[in-house]
Amino acid sequence: MPALLPPSRRLVIRAPDDWHVHLRDGDMLRSVVGYTARQFRRAIVMPNLTPPVTTTAAAEGYRTRILNALDPGGTFEPLMTCYLTDDADPDEINRGFETGVFAACKLYPAHATTNADHGVTDVRRIYPVLERMQRLGMPLLLHGEVTDPAIDIFDREAVFIETIFSRIIADFPALRAVFEHITTADAVAFVESGGPNLAATITPHHLRLNRNAMFAGGLRPHAYCLPVAKRERHRLALRRAATSGSPKFFLGTDSAPHLIGQKESACGCAGIFNAPFAIESYAATFEEDGALDRLEGFASEHGPRFYGLPLNTTSIILERDPLVVPERLAGTSEGDLVPFHADETLPWRFLGPVSAG
Ligand code: DOR
Ligand code: ZN
Repeated sequence: MPALLPPSRRLVIRAPDDWHVHLRDGDMLRSVVGYTARQFRRAIVMPNLTPPVTTTAAAEGYRTRILNALDPGGTFEPLMTCYLTDDADPDEINRGFETGVFAACKLYPAHATTNADHGVTDVRRIYPVLERMQRLGMPLLLHGEVTDPAIDIFDREAVFIETIFSRIIADFPALRAVFEHITTADAVAFVESGGPNLAATITPHHLRLNRNAMFAGGLRPHAYCLPVAKRERHRLALRRAATSGSPKFFLGTDSAPHLIGQKESACGCAGIFNAPFAIESYAATFEEDGALDRLEGFASEHGPRFYGLPLNTTSIILERDPLVVPERLAGTSEGDLVPFHADETLPWRFLGPVSAG
């Protein structure tokens, strides 16, 4: 149980994990990975690099680059994922999972989002892979949006549930599936109605922004991500799910950094860089909803239980001490990054791990 210790106003919780993050590569990786490693003990690392991570060897190489980008002596553990293409090979995925390199596979419908050009064009093409994953107990992580341009962008998640996800669940009832970064009341209901092998991640930003945030007083590129934020009633459904204590919902930031010039552009990139103040953002939300006692389950327990991994044994401390989020953070030589909550004040501050002894 988390301990809230007055009068120091500290919240101590089991060390959290991030079950969905984009760490990028090269200079950007070196700039951003420390923010995730500082707050989270483990993270599920998305494979949408250029080229995408589709083999065990590529995932091992990427894992090494992530660890090399961190200060030595840390405890951060990247959990690697395999990017599914139409040509995904069940044997290669099997090998990657059994050797402990792949923790999961990621399904991007082709062209659904950043670097999803090599994604799956028709889910039936990967049925042999899904069959094998079901047998192995290997989690499938889904970007749940259809890509048909005729479908309104605000309906793409709901239509994905109706036309694709329900069929996957019907055809592979024992497949372990994580509906990533859910944005709608429809997704909450779908996950709640499924068995214990169906779960979802919820981002900090979808708990705080509705679709108006993208148009507040002008076009706001830093509130743009995919799936896009929806109506207020959907945001409220996500808050109810996250703070409900249900083991089906857990933390996944979907932190997705893009340089400021790529965001503030005539064709800006999708993605919100929330890693630097992620746990503070979730803490603010849970506190507003009177559910601080449920933050630990959401952030540190439901995810590892779903993935069949041990719970972290260390703890972190948050202090109730307002924090002003900087307007910008260093990116690469090409530009800076704008963090989620830029220039806002958050009520909780991440202090660090509880020191041993
Ligand atoms: O907003 C997003 N950004 N959504 C995604 O699915 C991908 C991500 C990225 O990689 O930038
Ligand atoms: Zn993502």
